[in-house]
Amino acid sequence: MTEPRSIRLDALAYGGDYNPDQWSEETWVEDARLMVEAGVNIVSLPVFSWPQLEPTPGVYNWGWLDRVIEVLWGAGIKIDLATATATPPSWLIRRHPEMLPHNVDGRQLEFGSRQAYCPSSPIWKENVARMTRAMAERYGNHPALALWHISNEYGDHVSRCWCPASAVHFRTWLRNRYGTLEGLNEAWGVGVWGQRYTEWDHIEPPRTATGPINPTQLLDFERFSSDALLELFQVEIDVLREVTPDIAVTTNFMSLLRDLNYWDFAAVEDLVTDDAYPDPADPLAHVGAALNYGLMRSLKGGAPWLLLEQSASAVSWRDVNVPKAPGQMRIDSMQAIAHGSDGAMFFQWRQAKFGQEKFHSAMLGHRGEESRSFKETKALGAELKKLEPVRGTRVRASVGLVVDWDSWWGSSATESLPSQRLNYAVQARAWNAAFFRLGHPVDTVRAADSFEGYDVVVVPNLYIASNEQAAALTAFVERGGQLVVGPFSGVVDETEKVHTGGAPGPLRELLGIEVDEHWPIPDGIHEKLEVAGESFAVSIWSEWLELISGTEVLGSHTSGELAGRAAVTRRASGTGAAWYLGVVPEEAGLDALFRRVLGAAGLPAREVPDTVLESVTRSSEDTDYTFVLNHGTEPLAVTAAHDAVDLLGGAVADGVLVLPRYGVAVLASARTGAVPFIGRV
Ligand code: GLA
Repeated sequence: MTEPRSIRLDALAYGGDYNPDQWSEETWVEDARLMVEAGVNIVSLPVFSWPQLEPTPGVYNWGWLDRVIEVLWGAGIKIDLATATATPPSWLIRRHPEMLPHNVDGRQLEFGSRQAYCPSSPIWKENVARMTRAMAERYGNHPALALWHISNEYGDHVSRCWCPASAVHFRTWLRNRYGTLEGLNEAWGVGVWGQRYTEWDHIEPPRTATGPINPTQLLDFERFSSDALLELFQVEIDVLREVTPDIAVTTNFMSLLRDLNYWDFAAVEDLVTDDAYPDPADPLAHVGAALNYGLMRSLKGGAPWLLLEQSASAVSWRDVNVPKAPGQMRIDSMQAIAHGSDGAMFFQWRQAKFGQEKFHSAMLGHRGEESRSFKETKALGAELKKLEPVRGTRVRASVGLVVDWDSWWGSSATESLPSQRLNYAVQARAWNAAFFRLGHPVDTVRAADSFEGYDVVVVPNLYIASNEQAAALTAFVERGGQLVVGPFSGVVDETEKVHTGGAPGPLRELLGIEVDEHWPIPDGIHEKLEVAGESFAVSIWSEWLELISGTEVLGSHTSGELAGRAAVTRRASGTGAAWYLGVVPEEAGLDALFRRVLGAAGLPAREVPDTVLESVTRSSEDTDYTFVLNHGTEPLAVTAAHDAVDLLGGAVADGVLVLPRYGVAVLASARTGAVPFIGRV
């Protein structure tokens, strides 16, 4: 693989989506002036402008875009240039209505919103390649070009398509995977409910059927659908690599998203970018954001990424769209930078006057220069200049959390499961939240990684587990790692066949347990778990565990049918240990267990769980930059080294730093071996 190309920008990125085709040319000039005033150095455009660039087939109208780019570049502003393929023009659809996507009921979706295409449509791909080439040939040598922005939020509206073109593509994908029809029949376990296929053409995408659909067919459709969008992404990448081989490419991700395997997407692009919209009405939104950002920095092995879109204040797509309070936009931006983003960008620069997003906030609100959002935008732009030393540095984290799309899809695509309540993303978020409360940022890893640099690896769920993953996890434990595995793991292989002997299949020796039966807990019922004399509630899930000799019981059920049986176990192996949770404990239970895990790894942990204080360290070779964030609405005092310097100008007095509501400090100090751990006074 070639080295990733870098964004052509020599500062932290600051700017937003810009839709100049919604505004007059005089406004462009004013925009450029205000952008400079705000410290903006890059904008994304023209994301949705294909119809304006090619109003009739084959006739391009570049003039307006040429002029916009000249106005911006004249002011020194660079461009994250979109290939304009986020949405097709109406003429293309009317010529080729077959490119419209179909929903799960086989009904065609209409034009009138965006992303009105089937990812597998050959006509769409052909036109996407043509448009991308036209853009690259037109602007590929422009000095303002900093980055290619391919499409927009793949899968946002259409991540799966059940149309005839998808059916053809799905069959090709299945042929590549299984080779023969017999191979497919074997993989799909067609002996159940009489589903043997005798012709490839008989296979369809899993549209709404008479009852529960074959789970492996559903799982393969999830894999295929992610791959179909990946192939579409690759169509554009190939053109861009050919015409502009030195310019970095990206597509904006949507945080921890179920439908696309971002490990695969990140592998083919140069820079990971993300769109993140923590809800200002949710006082714990930053906890989830921490996991999203942990994923982003981990997708390319810890390399800096970029927050490409966030809101300046309210969005317009929730039921209730609460604005960001003064200071919230700043701390949200700082949190992303703390977690490795080399900049903070927005949707969008100027608030729209019309259309679906006119009530969505922007850096420049409807009131223009007087708007609160513009004032905060200017202030943040000035502050980012002070953070220049952190650009290019990397976050240090001791904990890795496994994100495995196959297990996510397998444990959610089918309704034929022990319970519908054990939700992959909810569990992953709950485990991340516990580490947040204990003071640790979490990277994400793959189950078959080398886990180098991590002291603790946690696997909230690994429903689909392979021998290769088991070997990697075992090697980690044997050389001293602390591994924690969550319930309903090691259940099936990659074709969803139950592992011989039952769960946890290939993890049996490592975890030292056998699951005799999954024992989901009915809605509304809370059972009890006791760990080291403390009692915790468990809900949703439990398991009848049998132990292999040598496995230690750390926690047992104290109520219900499983009373007296093991619920939490640990087995030593080499110089490390593998912990297993056969339950879903309440927050306090997770905190107590993970505190012990951190202790076993020799890592500090907060005695009192904290949902407000966050500290994340980005390090260069010789300097630690520790971001300290107060996500709460009350002032907060933390301990800091006496000689620590806050890049943002805050003062450390007698080893104490006081952060106001939504306050942030970035403490620079000589790099230490251990990651700095910040506590409350
Ligand atoms: C996403 C999209 C943007 C816009 C915003 C609104 O980030 O990429 O085009 O719709 O959402 O929040």
